[in-house]
Amino acid sequence: MEILIKNARVVDSSQDFIGDVYINSGIIYEIGKKLEKDCEVIDGEGYILAPSFIDLHSHFREPGYTYKEDILSGSKAASRGGYTAVNLMANTKPVCSRMETINKVLKKAREINLVDIHQCASITENLWGESIDHLYELTNEVKFISDDGKGVASSRVMLDAMVVAREKNLTIISHAENEQLVDLDTRLAENMMTWRDIALSKFTGCKLHLAHVSTKEAMQDIIEGKKQGVRVTCEVTPHHLALTEETVYRVNPPIRSPEDVAFLIEAIKDGFVDTISTDHAPHSIEDKINGAPGISGLETAFPVCFTKLVGEGHITLNKLSELMSKNPAKIMGLNKGEIKIGYEGDLVILDTKTKYNIDTSEFLSKGGNTPFEGKTVTGKVICTIKAGNVVYKDKIFR
Ligand code: DOR
Ligand code: ZN
Repeated sequence: MEILIKNARVVDSSQDFIGDVYINSGIIYEIGKKLEKDCEVIDGEGYILAPSFIDLHSHFREPGYTYKEDILSGSKAASRGGYTAVNLMANTKPVCSRMETINKVLKKAREINLVDIHQCASITENLWGESIDHLYELTNEVKFISDDGKGVASSRVMLDAMVVAREKNLTIISHAENEQLVDLDTRLAENMMTWRDIALSKFTGCKLHLAHVSTKEAMQDIIEGKKQGVRVTCEVTPHHLALTEETVYRVNPPIRSPEDVAFLIEAIKDGFVDTISTDHAPHSIEDKINGAPGISGLETAFPVCFTKLVGEGHITLNKLSELMSKNPAKIMGLNKGEIKIGYEGDLVILDTKTKYNIDTSEFLSKGGNTPFEGKTVTGKVICTIKAGNVVYKDKIFR
């Protein structure tokens, strides 16, 4: 499979130039100007050509909650959002604790073959917060473990899990929420668990990734941990960057104050935030009415981040590419996320000029749960290319 994208503005974390990119056999083969090839050609004039996005934090709900999302609808939503790789959380039914369940997800993902899918295993069996015996049975396909959706209540269980994770070279993704305190104060619940997990990571030497960091204090502790050389990385979500608490929408952790948002953006600028992850959490209308927390985020992540972060002048498009492509690829160990010869030919074509309104009726995700419905944004994914194959094309694109 060969494809040539011509005359685009080629942007990744470290480059910005007008030129052509040629993909052969799934790999970026040549980068230059005025390339001529006898293959499918896409005219990229007037558009941005960037590495596809990589999401460290998505919920595709299969098995068990496929009325909210399944691997096919989640994969289609990812492609439409410009993503070619996702890391799925384990809060399915049954929970992804054992290889038997994980292998079923991976098999189906391979059959669909729209995005590269990594499936997390749970830290504790069935998310019950107790046994970690299943961790010994995990095979090399599993790189991350997480009880996302809940915090691991017992410090001793988390410590023991970190010891095993360190031995097996697994990264723990922490949903930092103290369930004994969350009814009283969600901020205290997040801050205490963030501090604890960093302390445990420092003690055990285990790689720790903090999910959906939302408070100033949690980010301050992460910054301090990083300065001390703790093996900690972190993500923020588009909604925790673009919204403040005046937007009433249930998500976990909650939307925070303008002061928190400003601090998260400063932390991005200062290089302390590793990735922007979606926490794509699709729900049915009924579940949402009944209080399910979460936002269907894959199809709005780029426009929301582009509009907020680049549009308002906080960061460059290079920096956004680092947060959405280069860094998550590195954390997942993927040969993607930059436009360099020898990297996988996973690219997106973006229109960053036209204003439009987010319209959930166009979503490919089963979940239309988003506070961004109707919002005016710039930054549209108009084509997603995976390993040299066009896997998504917007209707306006020639
Ligand atoms: O809002 C959220 N929804 N936060 C989480 O941590 C879990 C997620 C879900 O699974 O719905
Ligand atoms: Zn979470």
